[in-house]
Amino acid sequence: MDIENRNHIEQLMLAFYTKAIPDPVIGHYFTHVINMDLEKHLPVIIDFWETVLFGIAKYKSNAIAVHQHLHEKSTFEEKHFEQWVKLFQSTVDELFQGEKAELAKQRALSIATVMKIKTIHGESPIGH
Ligand code: HEM
Repeated sequence: MDIENRNHIEQLMLAFYTKAIPDPVIGHYFTHVINMDLEKHLPVIIDFWETVLFGIAKYKSNAIAVHQHLHEKSTFEEKHFEQWVKLFQSTVDELFQGEKAELAKQRALSIATVMKIKTIHGESPIGH
Protein backbone atom coordinates (compact mmCIF):
# COMPACT_ATOMS: atom_id res chain seq x y z
CA MET A 1 0.00 0.00 0.00
CA ASP A 2 1.24 3.51 -0.77
CA ILE A 3 1.06 6.58 1.50
CA GLU A 4 -2.27 8.09 0.46
CA ASN A 5 -3.62 10.25 3.25
CA ARG A 6 -3.15 11.85 6.67
CA ASN A 7 -4.00 8.60 8.48
CA HIS A 8 -1.20 6.83 6.66
CA ILE A 9 1.24 9.60 7.61
CA GLU A 10 0.12 9.29 11.23
CA GLN A 11 0.77 5.55 11.12
CA LEU A 12 4.22 6.17 9.61
CA MET A 13 5.16 8.78 12.22
CA LEU A 14 4.01 6.67 15.16
CA ALA A 15 6.12 3.78 13.88
CA PHE A 16 9.09 6.14 13.29
CA TYR A 17 9.02 7.59 16.82
CA THR A 18 8.60 4.11 18.28
CA LYS A 19 12.09 3.50 16.89
CA ALA A 20 13.60 6.99 17.22
CA ILE A 21 12.77 7.73 20.87
CA PRO A 22 14.56 4.68 22.36
CA ASP A 23 17.35 4.79 19.73
CA PRO A 24 20.87 4.81 21.22
CA VAL A 25 22.22 7.33 18.65
CA ILE A 26 19.45 9.97 18.40
CA GLY A 27 16.94 9.11 21.15
CA HIS A 28 18.41 11.51 23.72
CA TYR A 29 17.41 14.51 21.56
CA PHE A 30 13.76 13.63 22.17
CA THR A 31 14.12 12.65 25.83
CA HIS A 32 16.98 14.72 27.28
CA VAL A 33 17.98 17.61 24.99
CA ILE A 34 14.29 18.50 25.03
CA ASN A 35 11.51 16.59 26.69
CA MET A 36 9.28 16.11 23.69
CA ASP A 37 5.55 15.76 24.22
CA LEU A 38 4.72 13.31 21.42
CA GLU A 39 1.01 14.11 21.56
CA LYS A 40 1.74 17.76 20.78
CA HIS A 41 4.53 17.04 18.34
CA LEU A 42 2.67 14.47 16.20
CA PRO A 43 0.08 16.82 14.65
CA VAL A 44 2.90 19.25 13.72
CA ILE A 45 5.04 16.60 12.07
CA ILE A 46 2.01 15.11 10.30
CA ASP A 47 1.19 18.59 8.93
CA PHE A 48 4.82 18.84 7.79
CA TRP A 49 4.65 15.58 5.83
CA GLU A 50 1.22 16.38 4.37
CA THR A 51 2.78 19.59 3.05
CA VAL A 52 5.87 17.80 1.71
CA LEU A 53 4.08 14.81 0.12
CA PHE A 54 0.74 16.24 -0.96
CA GLY A 55 1.44 19.96 -1.30
CA ILE A 56 -1.25 20.78 1.26
CA ALA A 57 -0.15 24.09 2.80
CA LYS A 58 -0.48 23.20 6.49
CA TYR A 59 3.01 23.38 7.95
CA LYS A 60 4.00 27.04 8.18
CA SER A 61 6.92 27.02 10.64
CA ASN A 62 10.65 26.72 10.00
CA ALA A 63 11.88 23.20 10.65
CA ILE A 64 15.50 24.13 9.85
CA ALA A 65 15.49 26.86 12.52
CA VAL A 66 14.05 24.40 15.07
CA HIS A 67 16.99 22.05 14.41
CA GLN A 68 19.53 24.89 14.47
CA HIS A 69 18.26 25.56 17.97
CA LEU A 70 18.62 21.86 18.90
CA HIS A 71 22.18 21.92 17.49
CA GLU A 72 23.00 24.83 19.82
CA LYS A 73 21.78 22.78 22.78
CA SER A 74 23.59 19.57 21.81
CA THR A 75 25.88 19.56 18.79
CA PHE A 76 24.68 17.49 15.83
CA GLU A 77 27.16 15.21 14.09
CA GLU A 78 26.99 13.32 10.79
CA LYS A 79 26.09 10.12 12.64
CA HIS A 80 22.89 11.66 14.01
CA PHE A 81 21.60 12.53 10.55
CA GLU A 82 22.70 9.17 9.14
CA GLN A 83 20.80 7.34 11.86
CA TRP A 84 17.69 9.54 11.53
CA VAL A 85 17.57 8.87 7.76
CA LYS A 86 18.19 5.14 8.25
CA LEU A 87 15.34 4.83 10.75
CA PHE A 88 13.01 6.91 8.58
CA GLN A 89 13.77 4.93 5.40
CA SER A 90 13.38 1.55 7.10
CA THR A 91 10.06 2.61 8.66
CA VAL A 92 8.72 3.69 5.25
CA ASP A 93 9.88 0.41 3.69
CA GLU A 94 8.27 -1.69 6.40
CA LEU A 95 4.86 -0.07 6.00
CA PHE A 96 4.44 1.35 2.50
CA GLN A 97 5.47 0.98 -1.10
CA GLY A 98 4.80 3.10 -4.15
CA GLU A 99 5.37 6.56 -5.59
CA LYS A 100 4.67 8.55 -2.41
CA ALA A 101 6.68 6.12 -0.30
CA GLU A 102 9.66 6.69 -2.64
CA LEU A 103 9.06 10.45 -2.55
CA ALA A 104 8.98 10.42 1.27
CA LYS A 105 12.37 8.67 1.39
CA GLN A 106 13.88 11.05 -1.18
CA ARG A 107 12.57 14.15 0.58
CA ALA A 108 13.71 12.87 3.98
CA LEU A 109 17.23 12.47 2.62
CA SER A 110 17.33 15.82 0.85
CA ILE A 111 15.89 17.76 3.81
CA ALA A 112 18.27 15.95 6.18
CA THR A 113 21.17 16.95 3.90
CA VAL A 114 20.16 20.62 3.91
CA MET A 115 19.62 20.48 7.67
CA LYS A 116 23.04 18.90 8.18
CA ILE A 117 24.77 21.58 6.10
CA LYS A 118 22.93 24.39 7.88
CA THR A 119 23.59 23.03 11.36
CA ILE A 120 26.97 21.26 11.35
CA HIS A 121 28.49 23.46 8.67
CA GLY A 122 26.49 26.54 9.59
CA GLU A 123 25.91 27.72 6.07
CA SER A 124 23.51 27.63 3.17
CA PRO A 125 24.07 24.82 0.64
CA ILE A 126 23.47 27.25 -2.22
CA GLY A 127 25.99 29.71 -0.81
CA HIS A 128 25.34 33.29 0.24
C1 HEM B 1 19.74 14.48 13.51
C2 HEM B 1 18.49 14.18 13.11
C3 HEM B 1 17.27 14.73 13.80
C4 HEM B 1 16.99 14.81 15.14
C5 HEM B 1 17.82 14.27 16.31
C6 HEM B 1 15.71 15.48 15.28
C7 HEM B 1 15.07 15.77 16.47
C8 HEM B 1 13.97 16.58 16.60
C9 HEM B 1 13.42 17.06 17.85
C10 HEM B 1 13.98 16.75 19.25
C11 HEM B 1 12.36 17.85 17.56
C12 HEM B 1 11.47 18.63 18.55
C13 HEM B 1 11.99 20.05 18.65
C14 HEM B 1 11.13 20.91 19.57
O1 HEM B 1 9.92 20.70 19.67
O2 HEM B 1 11.71 21.85 20.16
C15 HEM B 1 12.22 17.87 16.12
C16 HEM B 1 11.24 18.55 15.43
C17 HEM B 1 10.99 18.40 14.10
N1 HEM B 1 11.73 17.65 13.21
FE1 HEM B 1 13.48 16.74 13.62
N2 HEM B 1 15.24 15.80 14.02
C18 HEM B 1 16.15 15.36 13.09
C19 HEM B 1 16.04 15.45 11.72
C20 HEM B 1 14.90 15.84 11.06
C21 HEM B 1 14.70 15.78 9.63
C22 HEM B 1 15.75 15.29 8.62
C23 HEM B 1 13.44 16.24 9.37
C24 HEM B 1 12.70 16.40 8.07
C25 HEM B 1 12.92 15.65 7.01
C26 HEM B 1 12.86 16.62 10.64
C27 HEM B 1 11.61 17.17 10.81
C28 HEM B 1 11.16 17.76 11.96
C29 HEM B 1 9.98 18.63 12.06
C30 HEM B 1 9.05 19.02 10.91
C31 HEM B 1 9.89 19.04 13.38
C32 HEM B 1 8.83 20.00 13.98
C33 HEM B 1 9.35 21.43 13.87
C34 HEM B 1 8.35 22.42 14.45
O3 HEM B 1 8.02 22.31 15.65
O4 HEM B 1 7.92 23.31 13.69
N3 HEM B 1 13.76 16.35 11.64
N4 HEM B 1 13.21 17.10 15.56
